[in-house]
Amino acid sequence: MEIDVVEASPAEVAADVLAFAVPEPVELPAAGQELDRLVDGGIQHLIEDGELKGDRGRVTLLHTRNTLKAHQVAAGGVGADGDSDSLRTAAAAVARRAGEVGGKTIAWVLSENGLPAVEQARAVVDGVALGPYDAGIWKTKDEHASIERLVLCGPGAAQVAEEAQRANVVAAWTNRCRDLVNAPPNVCTPTTLAEFAEDTASRFEHMTFSALGPDEIREAGMGALTAVSQGSENPARLITLSYEPPSPTRGDVVLGLVGKAITFDSGGLSLKPASRMEEMKTDMGGGGAVLAATGAIAELGLPVKVLAVVPSCENMPGGRSYRPGDIITALNGKTIEVTNTDAEGRLILADALTHARRSGATHILDLATLTGAIVVAMGDYYAGLFSNDEGWAKEIQAAAEESGDHAWLMPLHETYRRYIESPYADMKNSSEYRQGSPILAARFLQEFVGEGPWAHLDIAGTAYLERTREDYYGAPGATGYGVRLLAELARRFS
Ligand code: BES
Ligand code: MN
Ligand code: ZN
Repeated sequence: MEIDVVEASPAEVAADVLAFAVPEPVELPAAGQELDRLVDGGIQHLIEDGELKGDRGRVTLLHTRNTLKAHQVAAGGVGADGDSDSLRTAAAAVARRAGEVGGKTIAWVLSENGLPAVEQARAVVDGVALGPYDAGIWKTKDEHASIERLVLCGPGAAQVAEEAQRANVVAAWTNRCRDLVNAPPNVCTPTTLAEFAEDTASRFEHMTFSALGPDEIREAGMGALTAVSQGSENPARLITLSYEPPSPTRGDVVLGLVGKAITFDSGGLSLKPASRMEEMKTDMGGGGAVLAATGAIAELGLPVKVLAVVPSCENMPGGRSYRPGDIITALNGKTIEVTNTDAEGRLILADALTHARRSGATHILDLATLTGAIVVAMGDYYAGLFSNDEGWAKEIQAAAEESGDHAWLMPLHETYRRYIESPYADMKNSSEYRQGSPILAARFLQEFVGEGPWAHLDIAGTAYLERTREDYYGAPGATGYGVRLLAELARRFS
Protein backbone atom coordinates (compact mmCIF):
# COMPACT_ATOMS: atom_id res chain seq x y z
CA MET A 1 0.00 0.00 0.00
CA GLU A 2 1.15 3.46 -0.89
CA ILE A 3 0.67 6.34 1.54
CA ASP A 4 0.33 10.03 0.82
CA VAL A 5 -0.20 12.94 3.13
CA VAL A 6 -1.77 16.07 1.68
CA GLU A 7 -2.66 19.41 3.15
CA ALA A 8 -5.35 20.21 0.58
CA SER A 9 -8.94 20.58 1.71
CA PRO A 10 -10.63 17.14 1.82
CA ALA A 11 -13.05 18.27 -0.90
CA GLU A 12 -10.07 18.58 -3.25
CA VAL A 13 -8.69 15.09 -2.63
CA ALA A 14 -9.32 12.54 -5.38
CA ALA A 15 -10.19 9.09 -4.03
CA ASP A 16 -12.67 6.26 -4.41
CA VAL A 17 -13.79 6.81 -0.85
CA LEU A 18 -13.28 9.85 1.36
CA ALA A 19 -13.72 8.79 4.98
CA PHE A 20 -13.94 10.35 8.40
CA ALA A 21 -14.60 9.02 11.90
CA VAL A 22 -17.90 9.54 13.70
CA PRO A 23 -18.47 8.85 17.40
CA GLU A 24 -21.65 7.49 18.99
CA PRO A 25 -23.73 9.48 19.81
CA VAL A 26 -23.17 11.02 16.39
CA GLU A 27 -21.36 14.30 16.28
CA LEU A 28 -20.10 15.55 12.91
CA PRO A 29 -16.49 16.71 12.99
CA ALA A 30 -15.77 20.13 11.44
CA ALA A 31 -14.50 18.44 8.28
CA GLY A 32 -17.72 16.43 8.11
CA GLN A 33 -19.80 19.59 8.34
CA GLU A 34 -17.86 21.13 5.49
CA LEU A 35 -18.36 18.00 3.37
CA ASP A 36 -22.05 18.03 4.28
CA ARG A 37 -22.40 21.50 2.74
CA LEU A 38 -20.72 20.30 -0.44
CA VAL A 39 -23.02 17.28 -0.76
CA ASP A 40 -26.11 19.44 -0.21
CA GLY A 41 -26.84 18.35 3.33
CA GLY A 42 -26.79 14.68 2.36
CA ILE A 43 -24.81 13.64 5.43
CA GLN A 44 -27.09 15.48 7.84
CA HIS A 45 -30.01 13.86 6.08
CA LEU A 46 -28.61 10.38 6.75
CA ILE A 47 -28.12 11.27 10.41
CA GLU A 48 -31.72 12.52 10.74
CA ASP A 49 -33.02 9.35 9.08
CA GLY A 50 -31.08 7.31 11.66
CA GLU A 51 -29.03 5.66 8.92
CA LEU A 52 -25.69 7.21 9.79
CA LYS A 53 -24.63 6.09 13.27
CA GLY A 54 -21.33 6.10 15.12
CA ASP A 55 -21.40 2.53 16.39
CA ARG A 56 -17.95 1.00 16.42
CA GLY A 57 -17.23 -0.55 13.03
CA ARG A 58 -20.39 0.72 11.33
CA VAL A 59 -19.86 2.23 7.88
CA THR A 60 -22.29 4.56 6.10
CA LEU A 61 -21.63 5.37 2.45
CA LEU A 62 -22.92 8.34 0.49
CA HIS A 63 -22.46 8.93 -3.24
CA THR A 64 -21.15 12.42 -3.90
CA ARG A 65 -22.50 12.78 -7.46
CA ASN A 66 -19.37 14.67 -8.49
CA THR A 67 -19.78 17.44 -5.92
CA LEU A 68 -16.40 16.35 -4.51
CA LYS A 69 -13.31 14.86 -6.12
CA ALA A 70 -14.04 11.63 -4.23
CA HIS A 71 -16.69 9.25 -5.57
CA GLN A 72 -18.13 8.37 -2.20
CA VAL A 73 -18.06 9.69 1.34
CA ALA A 74 -17.82 7.17 4.19
CA ALA A 75 -18.58 7.74 7.86
CA GLY A 76 -16.70 5.20 9.98
CA GLY A 77 -18.12 4.66 13.46
CA VAL A 78 -15.65 4.69 16.36
CA GLY A 79 -18.21 4.10 19.14
CA ALA A 80 -18.25 5.85 22.48
CA ASP A 81 -14.73 5.36 23.85
CA GLY A 82 -12.77 6.70 20.88
CA ASP A 83 -9.47 4.92 21.60
CA SER A 84 -6.90 3.91 18.95
CA ASP A 85 -8.31 0.42 18.56
CA SER A 86 -11.76 1.88 17.85
CA LEU A 87 -10.24 4.02 15.12
CA ARG A 88 -8.38 0.97 13.76
CA THR A 89 -11.71 -0.82 13.69
CA ALA A 90 -13.47 2.04 11.90
CA ALA A 91 -10.68 2.33 9.31
CA ALA A 92 -10.65 -1.43 8.74
CA ALA A 93 -14.42 -1.48 8.22
CA VAL A 94 -14.21 1.39 5.74
CA ALA A 95 -11.37 -0.36 3.89
CA ARG A 96 -13.29 -3.63 3.65
CA ARG A 97 -16.41 -1.85 2.45
CA ALA A 98 -14.43 0.20 -0.07
CA GLY A 99 -12.82 -3.01 -1.33
CA GLU A 100 -16.20 -4.66 -1.77
CA VAL A 101 -17.29 -1.91 -4.15
CA GLY A 102 -14.00 -2.07 -6.04
CA GLY A 103 -12.35 0.93 -4.34
CA LYS A 104 -8.57 1.10 -4.46
CA THR A 105 -7.90 4.54 -2.96
CA ILE A 106 -9.11 5.77 0.42
CA ALA A 107 -8.67 9.33 1.65
CA TRP A 108 -9.01 9.69 5.42
CA VAL A 109 -9.79 13.01 7.02
CA LEU A 110 -8.02 13.34 10.38
CA SER A 111 -10.16 14.73 13.16
CA GLU A 112 -9.46 18.02 14.94
CA ASN A 113 -10.44 16.58 18.32
CA GLY A 114 -9.82 13.38 20.23
CA LEU A 115 -6.58 11.46 19.68
CA PRO A 116 -3.38 13.30 18.68
CA ALA A 117 -2.94 13.45 14.89
CA VAL A 118 0.05 11.05 14.86
CA GLU A 119 -1.90 8.50 16.84
CA GLN A 120 -4.85 8.82 14.47
CA ALA A 121 -2.55 8.39 11.47
CA ARG A 122 -1.03 5.26 12.93
CA ALA A 123 -4.42 3.75 13.77
CA VAL A 124 -5.86 4.52 10.34
CA VAL A 125 -2.85 3.01 8.57
CA ASP A 126 -3.09 -0.10 10.77
CA GLY A 127 -6.81 -0.45 10.10
CA VAL A 128 -6.60 0.02 6.35
CA ALA A 129 -3.54 -2.24 5.97
CA LEU A 130 -4.60 -5.02 8.39
CA GLY A 131 -8.39 -4.92 8.00
CA PRO A 132 -8.87 -6.25 4.44
CA TYR A 133 -6.22 -8.98 4.88
CA ASP A 134 -7.50 -12.22 3.40
CA ALA A 135 -6.40 -15.56 4.85
CA GLY A 136 -7.90 -17.47 1.93
CA ILE A 137 -4.84 -17.34 -0.31
CA TRP A 138 -5.08 -21.05 -1.05
CA LYS A 139 -8.54 -20.68 -2.52
CA THR A 140 -8.33 -21.18 -6.28
CA LYS A 141 -10.87 -18.42 -6.86
CA ASP A 142 -9.20 -15.07 -6.29
CA GLU A 143 -11.54 -12.66 -4.51
CA HIS A 144 -8.76 -10.59 -3.10
CA ALA A 145 -9.47 -6.88 -2.74
CA SER A 146 -6.90 -4.72 -1.02
CA ILE A 147 -6.47 -0.98 -0.81
CA GLU A 148 -3.63 0.28 -2.99
CA ARG A 149 -3.39 3.84 -1.77
CA LEU A 150 -4.24 5.72 1.42
CA VAL A 151 -4.24 9.51 1.51
CA LEU A 152 -4.27 11.24 4.88
CA CYS A 153 -5.66 14.75 4.90
CA GLY A 154 -7.33 17.28 7.18
CA PRO A 155 -6.13 19.02 10.35
CA GLY A 156 -2.64 17.99 11.48
CA ALA A 157 -1.96 15.93 8.34
CA ALA A 158 1.26 17.83 7.65
CA GLN A 159 2.78 16.49 10.87
CA VAL A 160 2.00 12.80 10.41
CA ALA A 161 3.83 11.81 7.23
CA GLU A 162 6.76 10.06 8.92
CA GLU A 163 4.60 8.24 11.45
CA ALA A 164 2.21 7.07 8.72
CA GLN A 165 5.03 5.69 6.54
CA ARG A 166 6.53 3.92 9.53
CA ALA A 167 3.20 2.34 10.50
CA ASN A 168 2.76 1.23 6.90
CA VAL A 169 6.11 -0.59 6.85
CA VAL A 170 5.31 -2.33 10.13
CA ALA A 171 1.80 -3.29 8.99
CA ALA A 172 3.18 -4.83 5.78
CA TRP A 173 5.55 -7.02 7.84
CA THR A 174 2.66 -7.85 10.17
CA ASN A 175 0.74 -9.21 7.17
CA ARG A 176 3.82 -11.22 6.08
CA CYS A 177 3.85 -12.74 9.55
CA ARG A 178 0.13 -13.56 9.16
CA ASP A 179 0.89 -15.34 5.88
CA LEU A 180 3.52 -17.49 7.62
CA VAL A 181 1.22 -18.34 10.53
CA ASN A 182 -1.79 -19.11 8.33
CA ALA A 183 0.31 -21.25 5.98
CA PRO A 184 -0.43 -24.97 6.31
CA PRO A 185 2.12 -27.15 8.10
CA ASN A 186 2.97 -29.05 4.92
CA VAL A 187 4.06 -25.73 3.40
CA CYS A 188 5.47 -23.87 6.40
CA THR A 189 8.18 -26.20 7.70
CA PRO A 190 11.35 -25.29 9.62
CA THR A 191 13.15 -25.19 6.25
CA THR A 192 10.58 -22.75 4.82
CA LEU A 193 10.93 -20.48 7.84
CA ALA A 194 14.70 -20.52 7.44
CA GLU A 195 14.28 -19.59 3.77
CA PHE A 196 12.02 -16.70 4.76
CA ALA A 197 14.69 -15.51 7.19
CA GLU A 198 17.45 -15.89 4.61
CA ASP A 199 15.45 -13.98 2.04
CA THR A 200 14.75 -11.24 4.60
CA ALA A 201 18.45 -10.92 5.42
CA SER A 202 19.36 -10.69 1.73
CA ARG A 203 17.26 -7.51 1.44
CA PHE A 204 19.19 -5.55 4.06
CA GLU A 205 22.81 -4.52 4.08
CA HIS A 206 23.23 -4.77 7.84
CA MET A 207 21.54 -8.09 8.42
CA THR A 208 23.09 -11.53 8.48
CA PHE A 209 21.38 -14.90 8.50
CA SER A 210 22.46 -18.27 9.79
CA ALA A 211 20.72 -21.55 10.46
CA LEU A 212 21.90 -24.70 12.19
CA GLY A 213 20.61 -28.10 11.06
CA PRO A 214 19.91 -31.20 13.21
CA ASP A 215 23.53 -32.39 13.48
CA GLU A 216 24.85 -28.94 14.33
CA ILE A 217 22.09 -28.44 16.89
CA ARG A 218 22.99 -31.71 18.60
CA GLU A 219 26.73 -31.08 18.42
CA ALA A 220 26.26 -27.60 19.91
CA GLY A 221 24.75 -29.29 22.98
CA MET A 222 21.16 -28.21 22.44
CA GLY A 223 19.71 -31.38 23.95
CA ALA A 224 16.24 -29.91 24.45
CA LEU A 225 15.70 -28.74 20.87
CA THR A 226 17.18 -32.04 19.68
CA ALA A 227 14.74 -34.06 21.81
CA VAL A 228 11.62 -32.24 20.64
CA SER A 229 12.61 -32.40 16.96
CA GLN A 230 13.77 -36.01 16.76
CA GLY A 231 10.31 -37.51 16.09
CA SER A 232 9.84 -35.63 12.83
CA GLU A 233 10.98 -36.32 9.27
CA ASN A 234 11.21 -32.58 8.71
CA PRO A 235 14.64 -31.45 9.92
CA ALA A 236 14.91 -28.81 12.66
CA ARG A 237 16.50 -25.39 12.25
CA LEU A 238 17.95 -22.98 14.75
CA ILE A 239 17.51 -19.74 12.83
CA THR A 240 19.33 -16.55 13.71
CA LEU A 241 19.13 -13.09 12.18
CA SER A 242 21.60 -10.50 13.34
CA TYR A 243 20.93 -6.85 12.59
CA GLU A 244 23.89 -4.54 13.20
CA PRO A 245 23.17 -0.96 12.13
CA PRO A 246 26.23 1.24 11.49
CA SER A 247 25.77 3.64 14.42
CA PRO A 248 23.47 2.26 17.11
CA THR A 249 22.19 4.87 19.58
CA ARG A 250 23.14 2.58 22.46
CA GLY A 251 26.24 0.57 21.67
CA ASP A 252 25.82 -1.43 24.89
CA VAL A 253 22.40 -2.82 23.95
CA VAL A 254 21.63 -5.94 21.94
CA LEU A 255 17.91 -6.60 21.75
CA GLY A 256 17.49 -10.39 21.92
CA LEU A 257 14.26 -11.52 20.28
CA VAL A 258 13.44 -15.19 20.70
CA GLY A 259 10.40 -16.86 19.12
CA LYS A 260 8.91 -20.33 19.42
CA ALA A 261 8.45 -21.87 15.98
CA ILE A 262 6.86 -25.29 16.23
CA THR A 263 5.55 -25.62 12.68
CA PHE A 264 3.13 -28.31 13.83
CA ASP A 265 2.38 -29.36 17.39
CA SER A 266 0.69 -32.75 17.47
CA GLY A 267 1.67 -33.04 21.12
CA GLY A 268 4.15 -35.83 20.27
CA LEU A 269 3.66 -39.10 22.19
CA SER A 270 1.52 -37.12 24.67
CA LEU A 271 -0.75 -36.75 21.64
CA LYS A 272 -3.33 -33.99 21.52
CA PRO A 273 -7.01 -34.79 20.93
CA ALA A 274 -8.05 -34.68 17.25
CA SER A 275 -10.53 -31.85 17.68
CA ARG A 276 -9.03 -28.60 16.32
CA MET A 277 -5.57 -30.12 16.07
CA GLU A 278 -5.23 -28.35 12.70
CA GLU A 279 -4.90 -25.06 14.61
CA MET A 280 -1.52 -26.25 15.85
CA LYS A 281 -0.04 -25.13 12.52
CA THR A 282 -0.03 -21.71 14.20
CA ASP A 283 2.36 -22.84 16.93
CA MET A 284 5.13 -20.94 15.14
CA GLY A 285 3.45 -17.55 15.73
CA GLY A 286 6.19 -16.36 18.09
CA GLY A 287 8.96 -17.23 15.63
CA GLY A 288 7.05 -15.71 12.72
CA ALA A 289 6.61 -12.46 14.64
CA VAL A 290 10.29 -12.31 15.59
CA LEU A 291 11.47 -12.84 12.00
CA ALA A 292 8.98 -10.37 10.52
CA ALA A 293 9.67 -7.75 13.20
CA THR A 294 13.41 -7.99 12.52
CA GLY A 295 12.62 -7.29 8.87
CA ALA A 296 10.53 -4.28 9.87
CA ILE A 297 13.25 -2.94 12.17
CA ALA A 298 15.84 -3.20 9.39
CA GLU A 299 13.55 -1.64 6.78
CA LEU A 300 12.94 1.28 9.14
CA GLY A 301 16.71 1.48 9.69
CA LEU A 302 16.25 1.72 13.46
CA PRO A 303 19.62 2.30 15.15
CA VAL A 304 19.46 -0.63 17.56
CA LYS A 305 21.31 -3.94 17.40
CA VAL A 306 19.00 -6.94 17.22
CA LEU A 307 19.73 -10.63 17.60
CA ALA A 308 16.76 -12.78 16.60
CA VAL A 309 16.85 -16.45 17.57
CA VAL A 310 14.11 -18.77 16.31
CA PRO A 311 14.23 -22.48 17.21
CA SER A 312 12.04 -24.34 14.75
CA CYS A 313 10.89 -27.94 14.46
CA GLU A 314 7.83 -30.17 14.43
CA ASN A 315 6.52 -32.01 17.47
CA MET A 316 5.53 -35.45 16.16
CA PRO A 317 4.92 -38.96 17.50
CA GLY A 318 7.00 -41.76 16.02
CA GLY A 319 9.60 -44.41 16.68
CA ARG A 320 12.31 -41.82 17.24
CA SER A 321 10.22 -39.44 19.33
CA TYR A 322 11.30 -38.32 22.74
CA ARG A 323 9.28 -39.95 25.49
CA PRO A 324 7.62 -39.01 28.76
CA GLY A 325 10.23 -40.05 31.30
CA ASP A 326 13.22 -39.08 29.18
CA ILE A 327 15.81 -36.92 30.91
CA ILE A 328 17.55 -34.48 28.62
CA THR A 329 20.39 -32.01 29.07
CA ALA A 330 19.83 -28.46 27.87
CA LEU A 331 22.49 -26.19 26.38
CA ASN A 332 23.16 -24.53 29.76
CA GLY A 333 23.92 -27.95 31.28
CA LYS A 334 20.73 -28.24 33.32
CA THR A 335 18.84 -31.55 33.22
CA ILE A 336 15.12 -31.80 32.48
CA GLU A 337 12.77 -34.69 33.13
CA VAL A 338 10.19 -34.75 30.35
CA THR A 339 6.82 -35.46 31.96
CA ASN A 340 4.72 -34.36 28.98
CA THR A 341 5.96 -34.21 25.39
CA ASP A 342 3.23 -31.67 24.63
CA ALA A 343 5.02 -29.12 26.83
CA GLU A 344 7.58 -28.81 24.01
CA GLY A 345 7.68 -25.06 23.46
CA ARG A 346 9.46 -24.36 26.73
CA LEU A 347 12.06 -26.99 25.81
CA ILE A 348 13.04 -25.51 22.46
CA LEU A 349 12.99 -22.03 24.01
CA ALA A 350 15.28 -23.21 26.82
CA ASP A 351 18.12 -23.79 24.37
CA ALA A 352 17.30 -20.71 22.30
CA LEU A 353 17.32 -18.43 25.38
CA THR A 354 20.70 -19.77 26.50
CA HIS A 355 22.02 -19.34 22.98
CA ALA A 356 20.71 -15.75 22.72
CA ARG A 357 22.29 -14.72 26.02
CA ARG A 358 25.60 -16.40 25.22
CA SER A 359 25.61 -14.67 21.82
CA GLY A 360 25.48 -11.25 23.48
CA ALA A 361 21.79 -10.38 23.89
CA THR A 362 21.48 -7.87 26.74
CA HIS A 363 17.69 -7.41 26.82
CA ILE A 364 15.74 -10.54 25.96
CA LEU A 365 12.09 -10.88 25.02
CA ASP A 366 10.65 -14.20 23.93
CA LEU A 367 7.29 -14.71 22.25
CA ALA A 368 5.57 -18.07 22.30
CA THR A 369 2.19 -19.70 21.78
CA LEU A 370 3.02 -21.52 24.98
CA THR A 371 -0.05 -22.52 26.95
CA GLY A 372 -3.72 -23.24 26.43
CA ALA A 373 -4.38 -21.81 29.88
CA ILE A 374 -3.37 -18.29 28.85
CA VAL A 375 -6.19 -18.47 26.28
CA VAL A 376 -8.58 -19.49 29.04
CA ALA A 377 -7.35 -16.73 31.33
CA MET A 378 -6.99 -13.75 28.97
CA GLY A 379 -8.88 -14.65 25.80
CA ASP A 380 -7.81 -13.12 22.51
CA TYR A 381 -7.06 -9.48 23.39
CA TYR A 382 -4.19 -9.44 25.91
CA ALA A 383 -1.06 -11.56 25.84
CA GLY A 384 0.40 -12.64 29.19
CA LEU A 385 3.66 -10.88 30.06
CA PHE A 386 6.19 -12.31 32.51
CA SER A 387 9.53 -10.80 33.47
CA ASN A 388 12.46 -10.98 35.89
CA ASP A 389 12.96 -7.19 35.64
CA GLU A 390 10.43 -4.51 36.51
CA GLY A 391 11.93 -1.80 34.30
CA TRP A 392 12.10 -4.10 31.27
CA ALA A 393 8.49 -5.21 31.83
CA LYS A 394 7.36 -1.56 31.96
CA GLU A 395 9.11 -0.80 28.65
CA ILE A 396 7.39 -3.76 27.02
CA GLN A 397 3.98 -2.85 28.46
CA ALA A 398 4.35 0.70 27.15
CA ALA A 399 5.35 -0.53 23.68
CA ALA A 400 2.44 -3.00 23.77
CA GLU A 401 -0.16 -0.34 24.53
CA GLU A 402 1.24 2.07 21.98
CA SER A 403 1.34 -0.56 19.24
CA GLY A 404 -2.08 -2.16 19.65
CA ASP A 405 -0.53 -5.54 20.57
CA HIS A 406 -1.79 -5.55 24.15
CA ALA A 407 -0.01 -7.27 27.04
CA TRP A 408 -0.87 -7.71 30.70
CA LEU A 409 1.71 -8.31 33.43
CA MET A 410 1.42 -11.67 35.18
CA PRO A 411 3.23 -12.77 38.35
CA LEU A 412 6.49 -14.70 38.73
CA HIS A 413 7.65 -15.65 42.21
CA GLU A 414 10.13 -18.11 43.68
CA THR A 415 7.27 -19.97 45.37
CA TYR A 416 6.32 -21.22 41.91
CA ARG A 417 9.71 -22.93 41.51
CA ARG A 418 8.36 -26.00 43.29
CA TYR A 419 5.91 -26.54 40.43
CA ILE A 420 8.82 -27.81 38.34
CA GLU A 421 10.72 -29.75 41.03
CA SER A 422 11.58 -33.26 39.81
CA PRO A 423 12.77 -36.16 41.96
CA TYR A 424 15.20 -37.20 39.19
CA ALA A 425 16.50 -34.13 37.43
CA ASP A 426 17.10 -30.41 37.93
CA MET A 427 13.51 -29.79 36.84
CA LYS A 428 10.57 -31.29 34.96
CA ASN A 429 8.76 -29.66 32.04
CA SER A 430 5.18 -29.97 33.30
CA SER A 431 3.12 -30.85 36.33
CA GLU A 432 0.16 -33.14 36.93
CA TYR A 433 -1.57 -30.29 38.80
CA ARG A 434 -3.57 -27.84 36.76
CA GLN A 435 -2.44 -24.81 38.72
CA GLY A 436 -1.04 -21.71 37.02
CA SER A 437 0.26 -23.47 33.92
CA PRO A 438 1.36 -20.23 32.13
CA ILE A 439 3.30 -19.22 35.26
CA LEU A 440 4.85 -22.66 35.56
CA ALA A 441 5.95 -22.40 31.94
CA ALA A 442 7.42 -18.93 32.47
CA ARG A 443 9.20 -20.07 35.63
CA PHE A 444 10.66 -22.96 33.62
CA LEU A 445 11.98 -20.55 30.98
CA GLN A 446 13.57 -18.41 33.68
CA GLU A 447 15.99 -21.28 34.39
CA PHE A 448 17.61 -20.58 31.00
CA VAL A 449 17.80 -16.82 30.68
CA GLY A 450 21.17 -16.28 32.39
CA GLU A 451 22.00 -12.84 33.79
CA GLY A 452 20.13 -9.72 32.71
CA PRO A 453 16.65 -8.53 31.86
CA TRP A 454 14.33 -11.06 30.25
CA ALA A 455 10.63 -11.10 29.53
CA HIS A 456 8.27 -13.65 28.07
CA LEU A 457 5.02 -13.11 26.19
CA ASP A 458 2.58 -16.00 26.12
CA ILE A 459 0.72 -15.25 22.89
CA ALA A 460 -1.36 -18.43 22.51
CA GLY A 461 -4.58 -16.39 22.67
CA THR A 462 -3.52 -13.38 20.61
CA ALA A 463 -1.42 -14.81 17.75
CA TYR A 464 -4.32 -16.65 16.21
CA LEU A 465 -8.05 -15.91 16.47
CA GLU A 466 -10.27 -18.99 16.52
CA ARG A 467 -13.20 -16.66 15.87
CA THR A 468 -13.29 -13.02 14.85
CA ARG A 469 -12.61 -10.36 17.48
CA GLU A 470 -15.07 -8.15 15.64
CA ASP A 471 -12.60 -5.32 15.56
CA TYR A 472 -10.04 -4.50 12.87
CA TYR A 473 -9.32 -8.22 12.70
CA GLY A 474 -12.60 -8.92 10.96
CA ALA A 475 -11.96 -12.62 10.34
CA PRO A 476 -10.50 -15.59 12.20
CA GLY A 477 -6.86 -16.55 11.64
CA ALA A 478 -3.42 -15.16 12.31
CA THR A 479 -3.07 -11.63 13.70
CA GLY A 480 0.67 -11.08 13.34
CA TYR A 481 0.70 -10.35 17.07
CA GLY A 482 4.08 -9.08 18.21
CA VAL A 483 5.38 -7.51 15.00
CA ARG A 484 4.00 -4.07 15.87
CA LEU A 485 4.99 -4.47 19.52
CA LEU A 486 8.58 -5.47 18.73
CA ALA A 487 9.01 -2.68 16.16
CA GLU A 488 7.77 -0.17 18.74
CA LEU A 489 10.06 -1.62 21.41
CA ALA A 490 13.05 -1.30 19.08
CA ARG A 491 12.11 2.28 18.29
CA ARG A 492 12.26 3.07 22.01
CA PHE A 493 15.93 2.09 22.04
CA SER A 494 16.76 4.50 19.23
N1 BES B 1 1.19 -25.06 21.57
C1 BES B 1 0.57 -25.45 22.78
C2 BES B 1 -0.19 -24.31 23.45
C3 BES B 1 -1.40 -23.78 22.73
C4 BES B 1 -2.67 -24.23 23.07
C5 BES B 1 -1.29 -22.79 21.77
C6 BES B 1 -3.79 -23.71 22.43
C7 BES B 1 -2.41 -22.29 21.13
C8 BES B 1 -3.65 -22.74 21.47
C9 BES B 1 1.62 -25.95 23.75
O1 BES B 1 2.72 -26.56 23.20
C10 BES B 1 0.97 -26.94 24.63
O2 BES B 1 0.62 -27.99 24.16
N2 BES B 1 0.82 -26.62 25.90
C11 BES B 1 0.22 -27.48 26.86
C12 BES B 1 1.17 -27.67 28.01
C13 BES B 1 0.76 -28.76 28.95
C14 BES B 1 0.93 -30.10 28.29
C15 BES B 1 1.62 -28.68 30.19
C16 BES B 1 -1.07 -26.83 27.33
O3 BES B 1 -1.07 -25.62 27.58
O4 BES B 1 -2.08 -27.54 27.44
MN1 MN C 1 2.42 -28.63 22.85
ZN1 ZN D 1 3.20 -26.03 21.30
